[in-house]
Amino acid sequence: MSIEIAPSILAADFSRLADELAKVATADRAHVDVMDNHFVPNLTIGPAVVESLVKESPIPVDCHLMIEDPDRWAPAYVEAGARDVTFHAEAAKAPIRLARELRAQGARAGLALRPATPLEPYLDLLEEFDLLLIMTVEPGFGGQSFLDGTLPKLRRARQAVLASGLEVRLQVDGGVGPQTVARCVEAGADVLVAGSAVFGAPDPAAAVAGLRAAAEACVR
Ligand code: DX5
Ligand code: ZN
Repeated sequence: MSIEIAPSILAADFSRLADELAKVATADRAHVDVMDNHFVPNLTIGPAVVESLVKESPIPVDCHLMIEDPDRWAPAYVEAGARDVTFHAEAAKAPIRLARELRAQGARAGLALRPATPLEPYLDLLEEFDLLLIMTVEPGFGGQSFLDGTLPKLRRARQAVLASGLEVRLQVDGGVGPQTVARCVEAGADVLVAGSAVFGAPDPAAAVAGLRAAAEACVR
């Protein structure tokens, strides 16, 4: 299982996003948090900025949509050039239809679950998705403490993915850093989103390398 490191630009300097992305060129994907002030109490960017970021990013752009009505808005992020588009199960009216639409547009589709959202109702939908995002904090803000209570769900997700034989990535997001990376990987995560642990570090590239080394030490 190859581990991917996904720096979240939420913790980067928003006035210099192209420069910030250049610092993490050795990572595997750039995690871009889209918030609408409705699904979560915070506001970030929309498709126009994502389109500009895609042009500048040395690595694929992975959009995490924390928005209401993704059925209506998510396709615009594929048009903007995001390789991965993840929407929240709690917000989607027709998750299967939306996942199929995103894939038909040429993107990878992801399904995100808030910490209190149960996994089991979505297990039969796994084949519709390329990625399952298990939130390890309440979505909305960077710099929060990792919620250990989400680890059993992550373990059950890993078991379900293994049993299915599908190639579904398991992403964790929130409070992921040097102190928590081992817990995530041991529980089955293979895409590690890290905001403050990367862009809050003096050397973001070194932080990416450190997270990768710590993660790979767990899977050996
Ligand atoms: C939070 C976002 C995360 C955030 C993580 O809702 O989805 O991607 O950037 O930040 P850290 O890694 O600082 O917890
Ligand atoms: Zn995120």
